[in-house]
Amino acid sequence: MTNAFAKDILTGLRAEQKHLPSKYFYDDNGSRIFQEIMNMPEYYLTDAEFEILSLQCKSIIDALQFSTPFNIVELGAGDGLKTFKLLEYLVKHNIEFNYVPIDISQEAMDMLSKRLKERLPGIHISPQVGDYFEILKKNKENDYPSLLLFLGSNIGNYLDDKAIELLQLFNNNMKKGDKLLIGIDLKKNPIVIRDAYDDKHGITKRFNLNLLLRINRELNADFRIDDFDFYCHYNPITGEVKSYIISLRDQSVELKAINETINFEYNELIWTELSKKYGLQEIQELAENSNFKLKTNFLDCKHFFSDSLWEKP
Ligand code: TRP
Repeated sequence: MTNAFAKDILTGLRAEQKHLPSKYFYDDNGSRIFQEIMNMPEYYLTDAEFEILSLQCKSIIDALQFSTPFNIVELGAGDGLKTFKLLEYLVKHNIEFNYVPIDISQEAMDMLSKRLKERLPGIHISPQVGDYFEILKKNKENDYPSLLLFLGSNIGNYLDDKAIELLQLFNNNMKKGDKLLIGIDLKKNPIVIRDAYDDKHGITKRFNLNLLLRINRELNADFRIDDFDFYCHYNPITGEVKSYIISLRDQSVELKAINETINFEYNELIWTELSKKYGLQEIQELAENSNFKLKTNFLDCKHFFSDSLWEKP
């Protein structure tokens, strides 16, 4: 089997505890539904981070203590909306920098550069499509200091070990003095978190079940969407939101493109996503465990979210 999607889906569905990789949520439909999630009033993450990057851009840039020009390398830039205020501040103040947004979607990168060039004439932008690490490796040979951006609480989607592994990989591909600004969702009143993930509009349910529709389409499968539901749970002690799809009956699903049949038991769970929330002490430990030095946590006014600035010592 050559197709990575088919391979990953099959591995997940054959496992003792079934699971599906959340990165596959984001096909064209999934990305559109995710936009709807971000627009829900309950999904506080987007607004909180936007507020930090809008109101505190001067403090963030001052804290870098960089000589100019420098690089801003954004991992998973997407539509780049959050970063806009920060870039706008730099352009307005004639601070010389090169913006390197990285994303797996060529289309997203084309749109982002077009929009930025219109809105911020004179900006230096070198969009890159592809694998983070290949691009980071190249960037390490660059003479100028770099700020890496890993925003949107992406890190919350990794299990503890995997998170540290990923951050160490970032670290290995940075130069001494380079900085990482990492968006991390904070522990808070559990009701606020529950409402953001278990939304009453049913958008998050649609977002999760859309992955089954994608499997139907791409692997010629026959998931009957009405026979599955969505469940999610926040544990305020561990800080983990876990999302699942539930099988509402004993059933089997054929994946015709790869000649496979998967059986589901009544009430069997398929784990789809982890969205981990951190306390400030845990952020400190995360930084240390991945060989960074924490400089400053930039919080929004409600203290819901942190953009945490780390240095490679
Ligand atoms: N990964 C994002 C997050 O952790 C997107 C997301 C929001 C999500 N709600 C979700 C992913 C529910 C899976 C299930 O916030």
